[in-house]
Amino acid sequence: MSAGMHSLGDLEALAYQVAMGADEAISETPVNRYAQSAALVAQKAAPPRVAPGPVPRPTEETAAEDAIGAARALSGAATTLEELEAALAAFEHCDLKRGARSLVFCDGRPEARVMIIGEAPGRDEDIEGRPFVGRAGKLLDRMLGAIDLGRSATDAERAVYITNILPWRPPQNRDPKPEEIAMMKPFVERHVELVGPDLLVLMGNISCQAMLGRRGITRLRGSWTETLVRPALPMFHPAYLLRNPAAKREAWADLLSLKARLRQSARP
Ligand code: URA
Repeated sequence: MSAGMHSLGDLEALAYQVAMGADEAISETPVNRYAQSAALVAQKAAPPRVAPGPVPRPTEETAAEDAIGAARALSGAATTLEELEAALAAFEHCDLKRGARSLVFCDGRPEARVMIIGEAPGRDEDIEGRPFVGRAGKLLDRMLGAIDLGRSATDAERAVYITNILPWRPPQNRDPKPEEIAMMKPFVERHVELVGPDLLVLMGNISCQAMLGRRGITRLRGSWTETLVRPALPMFHPAYLLRNPAAKREAWADLLSLKARLRQSARP
């Protein structure tokens, strides 16, 4: 038979071989078609792949979310300052509570137009159960007195109300951790709502971090901003002023700004 001519039987045989997978005339390496088809059968028989479920999150993250949820629920249910203090006392998620002697809730007059938010109690505050009673607190009282404000003034115009971001003293007066601030923030927000001051003063970086989500007190201080639908003034913390007396000049300017704002917005 000539090269270009095939019988029907040859063509059928070729088609059969192609259909069986013999599509290469010759290969570099031998191919074991039995092994290939066995692998194909095994692949078909394998159980279908299950889509991966949600990746379990680290328990610390879940615990932090639980704590914030509990803080929101407890603080949100409080309708008076007494109830809010009781809610804080019942809050078990913050480890600082176990190392502290006192729950430091507030000082001053709830009817005050100015609410001051500090950082956390120190040793003296932990012993006394009141905010800003140590050296920094004494300086704060002198600063407020210079613009005729005070925590024991009985009229709302001259009174102040004082609290902190954290109600329990951190060990060795270390900085509050971001997770502690996040956990206690719902209580501070409710505290502000229940007091209803006209103006807020945010003392230092921790207070600004918690209430404004920003740090950098040297840049923030002296510029009025807003939080919880109220004007808020970031100021140097009195403890910082004790360490850096030269910064009292700026603190004085901020106090004058506070006084001017109170005058401008005086209640009828
Ligand atoms: N510093 C604060 O921020 N708060 C206090 O109560 C005492 C010192």
